[in-house]
Amino acid sequence: MERPNVNAMALLLLLLLAAAVFAALPTPSHGWGVDGHLMVCQIAQGRLSDAAAKAVDDLLPSDAAGNLSSLCSWADKVRFRYHWSEPLHFIDTPDNLCTYDYDRDCKDEEGVKGRCVAGAINNYTSQLLTYAPSSSSSSPSSSSSSGQYNLTEALLFLSHFIGDVHQPLHVGFSSDRGGNTIDVHWYRRKTELHHVWDVNIIETAEKDYYDQGTAEFVDALTKNITGDWSGKVQGWEECGKNLTACPDIYATEGITAACDWAYKNVTEDSTLSDDYFDSRLPIVNLRLAQGGVRLAATLNRIFDQTKTK
Ligand SMILES: *[C@@H]1O[C@H](CO)[C@@H](O)[C@H](O)[C@H]1NC(C)=O
Ligand SMILES: *[C@@H]1O[C@H](CO)[C@@H](O)[C@H](O)[C@H]1NC(C)=O
Ligand SMILES: *[C@@H]1O[C@H](CO)[C@@H](O)[C@H](O)[C@H]1NC(C)=O
Ligand SMILES: *[C@@H]1O[C@H](CO)[C@@H](O)[C@H](O)[C@H]1NC(C)=O
Ligand SMILES: *[C@@H]1O[C@H](CO)[C@@H](O)[C@H](O)[C@H]1NC(C)=O
Ligand SMILES: *[C@@H]1O[C@H](CO)[C@@H](O)[C@H](O)[C@H]1NC(C)=O
Ligand SMILES: [Zn+2]
Repeated sequence: MERPNVNAMALLLLLLLAAAVFAALPTPSHGWGVDGHLMVCQIAQGRLSDAAAKAVDDLLPSDAAGNLSSLCSWADKVRFRYHWSEPLHFIDTPDNLCTYDYDRDCKDEEGVKGRCVAGAINNYTSQLLTYAPSSSSSSPSSSSSSGQYNLTEALLFLSHFIGDVHQPLHVGFSSDRGGNTIDVHWYRRKTELHHVWDVNIIETAEKDYYDQGTAEFVDALTKNITGDWSGKVQGWEECGKNLTACPDIYATEGITAACDWAYKNVTEDSTLSDDYFDSRLPIVNLRLAQGGVRLAATLNRIFDQTKTK
């Protein structure tokens, strides 16, 4: 029998320990989980105008094969590499006020103005307005980096951030960091309130109603967008004031929903189960649908303006 290699075993133990420590570290949340972002982008993709669909196709990396939803969590994946992008996923508003004000609230922790999800949506919208369609179809993506901006990244950031701003706790209170520091139980599992809204409600809905996947969930949302909600959709799309993007409307709705539904009746160590799930799922459904409809409307407005350039 071979003697165990002591060095190898020590190394293995060390690796296991490191993995355990890493897994236990609290990972701050950054908006809908992968599934939420995927659904927002899938809904949007089905509503793009011809000009927008063409531009999106042109700007997406070729390995995404024209599928925006496959890259809607890209912004979360690069948050360590692009450390500067961290504050662009959310907005902190004053505790318990339940209001949002761009001038007051859209800043990062150092107080730099405009560095929040609403500022980022405006930023990447104006970058995409510099898009000039490539004249020859033989050179796809030739327009994606013309000028000073990387418009592929602008598209991926915008698509992600319009999703994020629709997650109610992405416009939350400052002291609890949008529910990130409120420990709760989701049924029997320990989690944070923020994570309940990013992931748990969606996951439980997938498990209970949609055969574990996003496809049927998206179908159900799409059906309501063209059915029960059809009378409201035009209102969701409207931007007012002749704007191309209007994140302030979404952020104001967000903090209202956070106060009325996400934070309501929740305290440290609350156990959230059927009552909370049943009453909050309709809000999640609505915000996912609005996110998708508005992402499409924004991209359609952008690429409607760039097509004549
Ligand atoms: C797009 O990508 C998503 C995520 O990778 C995948 O679930 C979906 O099936 C893809 N859609 C198409 C039309 O390829
Ligand atoms: C605007 O976009 C540029 C390029 O990605 C980035 O460096 C900058 O931090 C962004 N600012 C905001 C507020 O989004
Ligand atoms: C634009 O960004 C994408 C995604 O980060 C990257 O793959 C690509 O190389 C960038 N393009 C240029 C011209 O830098
Ligand atoms: C769609 O609308 C019906 C009727 O209002 C509602 O019962 C259902 O939960 C909605 N589904 C989604 C996914 O929004
Ligand atoms: C609306 O915006 C467009 C494009 O930026 C501009 O040409 C037009 O004059 C604006 N209209 C009003 C009423 O501001
Ligand atoms: C909060 O709790 C009160 C008292 O139990 C209840 O009447 C109310 O419906 C709850 N509100 C929400 C939004 O859960
Ligand atoms: Zn995010």
